[in-house]
Order: sequence, then structure tokens, then C-alpha cells
Amino acid sequence: MSTSFQTKIPNSLNEHWMPFSSNKDFKKNPRIIVKAEGIYLHTHDGKTLIDGSSGLYCNPLGHGRKEIIEAIKNQLENLDYTMPFQQGYGGSFELATMIAQKTPEDLNRIFYTICGSTAVETAIKIAVAYFRSIGQTNRFKFVGRERGYHGMNIGALTVGGIPNNSREFKNILMPGVEHMRHTFLPEHKFVKGQPDSGSELADDLEVIAKKLGGENIAACIVEPIAGSTGTLIPPKHYLQKLRKICDKHGILLIFDEVVTGWGRTGSAFAAQEFEVTPDIITMAKATTNGIVPMGVVAVREKIYQSVIDASPDGAVELFHGYTYSGIPVAVSAAIAVQKIFEKEDIFNKVKKLSKHFQDGLHSLKDLSCVDSIRNYGLLGGVDISMRDKPGKAGFNVYKKCYDSGVNIKPTGDALIIAPPFVCEKKDIDEIIEKMRKGIQSHLKS
Ligand SMILES: Cc1ncc(COP(=O)(O)O)c(C=O)c1O
Repeated sequence: MSTSFQTKIPNSLNEHWMPFSSNKDFKKNPRIIVKAEGIYLHTHDGKTLIDGSSGLYCNPLGHGRKEIIEAIKNQLENLDYTMPFQQGYGGSFELATMIAQKTPEDLNRIFYTICGSTAVETAIKIAVAYFRSIGQTNRFKFVGRERGYHGMNIGALTVGGIPNNSREFKNILMPGVEHMRHTFLPEHKFVKGQPDSGSELADDLEVIAKKLGGENIAACIVEPIAGSTGTLIPPKHYLQKLRKICDKHGILLIFDEVVTGWGRTGSAFAAQEFEVTPDIITMAKATTNGIVPMGVVAVREKIYQSVIDASPDGAVELFHGYTYSGIPVAVSAAIAVQKIFEKEDIFNKVKKLSKHFQDGLHSLKDLSCVDSIRNYGLLGGVDISMRDKPGKAGFNVYKKCYDSGVNIKPTGDALIIAPPFVCEKKDIDEIIEKMRKGIQSHLKS
């Protein structure tokens, strides 16, 4: 490997307040990535890491894809920015058509945002706007789920279910939000794919509907697979049950597919993989292969039409949008990504590789600190036994894996593995082998 692209650590690490990081730990012992190519990352101190988490799930096509870079360059040279309010540019319409062709049933109306958090925030607002447009002004309560992650804006944070994220902000959370229990049961510990037990946990929605009044709830939001808390796979029939309860009470079902959207499960969306159609889907991450920030909300025709029809001609129908909603540079990347999905039959590729990934991941079961392993498609979670306090062991394993040459994402004591879709079997083997080394080194430390 050439070392020509290695750079020194910047002169000062002080000024940058890093997000979701232990700033103290990092600044004592920095981990700086200086170059990415294909499925590999190169660090400032000469290490090469295989990207076992596709960044933050967001680079599934690998790094440095020429087609995407070319598309962005061409776009920038011709139209670098245009206001997305009251005027448009052709690409955003073209991309919306492409996305609508992949979304399930009639989730064909596409709203652009900046990221996953803003996609969720937008979905929440669209749900409220929809019910107002049909005269159900009492519907503004929401149901989320424990161990759900939907992003960091106030709405998204409130419907999320990770206490550490919201503890300091309790006083400013959105009112009228309840949470269902999460779906990870003790007997799911080493289950491959979807667990058989636990569908009855969907009845929590019925209990909440009784408590709040089903007619007051706008939407129930879940990740079909809870990603950020360690890959919690939905029990068989669970999502179907949620759908039924939503229908009974007229509640909208939102699938947050920021992680699962665009192929992670082996289908374009988890909705198709699990055969449950929600009313709204949020997506981000893989939409641009993580290169330019972009979020997307896909909604059913009737939702769009009701909101549009409720306003007089010439009026703004939805008072919502962002300076960077569907801007040319993001759209050009997303269109290039869509073309690669088609050309390389990416979703089927994921499906074919899933079994090999499952076998590899579950081979880590013999390591004494591995408490649980879960997987679906090219998404995996491994729980590490707690040491002293929650999160310490997970963080240590992450660092040991970094040293052994594989990049993974820890959340608490759970490790998240989300290999790039362009991996071959041998690359999966390399990820697993290097994880084994990293976990062994943790055991010795
Ligand atoms: C399911 C889900 N929703 C929303 C988000 C928030 O996305 P972003 O960080 O782009 O705002 C994430 C981020 O990981 C996520 O996993």
C-alpha cells in the first residue's frame, strides 16, 4: 500500500467538538482516516481497515465510486444550487420518479430533506398535517418504541427510545409520545434471522391506544429492524400485527428505513422484505451512498392529495422544507446511486451474500464475551458482556477491532456490523476474522 496519502494529525484537535464521541478519549489517542477506496479505509498512522460498518451504514457501494463522483462533478459544473421553494430543477423530479418506482404500493409522493433526522421530523409533521387536512385535528400523539433510534431533532429524539440520548433534554421533548416495548427477548440471543417468538409485543400498541384513545394517535413509528441499538430483528408476524392495529384505529404506520432502505435486507425496502406496507417511509444513508447529505420521505398518494387539496389554489400547502431539500448535488449523487443499484443488481447481490454473512457472524459465538448475535440481510449485531459499566466493553472492542483492521460501529455494548453491498465472500471472511482478533484482544486486556 502506498503511504503517499498519509497525513499528520492536525496541529490542533481542540476546536472541533466531535459529535457522539468521547472527545477526551479521542483527543488523547486520535483515530484519523485519511483516505478511503473501495471497501477500505486508510488511517493517519498507516493502518488499513476493512469498512465493516459501511461508515455509518451509509457507504454500501464502497468508497470512491467513479460514477457518483462524475455525476456530482457534472452537476456542479452546470447547476450548483437552486432554491427549492417555489421553483425547481429537473433532477429532483427525475429522482422522485425513480424512487417512487422502488417504493411499495402507492408510496409515490416524495419529499426531500437533509438527513435521517429531518426525514423523521418531516414524517411526523406530514402525519399531523394529513389529519388536519381531513378534519381529525385531535390526532397529534405519537407512538415510538424502546431502543428505537430516529435521529436527534426534538421530534425524532422524542419518538426514539434510547434513554441516554434524551435524559438531558427531558424538559424540551415533544408532548404526547408513548413507547412500546422493544422486541428483543432473552430467547432471541443467538437466533438467525427473524425470531419465532415475540409477535405479541405488538399488542403494546393496542394498550397505548386504549390509554391515549386510538382516535388521538397520529402515527406509530418503528424501524422495521432496530439498527442503532444493535440490530434487533422483528419477530415473525410482529410488523403485520402492528399494521392491523394501526388500521383498526386509523393510525398511520411510519417505517423509519434510514438504515434498512435501499437494499440492506435484500429488498429495496424492509417493507417489501417483510411484506408489510406502511403509510410513510423515511430513508437517508444509502440514498447518496453517504456522500452528500440527503433524506427522503415517501408517502401514500392519499396523504399527499389530502394535504394539497385542503389548501386554496396558489397557497403553500405544507409550511415545511429545508434550504437543502433536494439540492442538485445531492440529487445527482442519488441518481447515480440508483443507476448502480440497477446495473449491478445490488439488492439481489445482498440477498445472495446474506447466508455467508450469517454463518460468519454466528461463528463468533464461541468467544466467551459474546452474549448474543443477531442478523438479517447484510446487517448484524453482536452483544459483548458488560465490564464495570455499560458501554465500556463495547467501546474497547471497537478500538481493538480498529487496531486489528476492521471498522465496526459500537452502541453501548452492542457492535453493529453492516458490510458494504459490494463485498465478496472473501471480504466478509476478512471482516469476521479481524473482528475475532479484535474481540480476542479485548478478552486479553
Ligand atoms: C433509523 C434511523 N433513523 C434516523 C437516523 C438519523 O439520521 P441522521 O443521522 O442522518 O440524521 C438514523 C441514524 O443513524 C437512523 O439509524
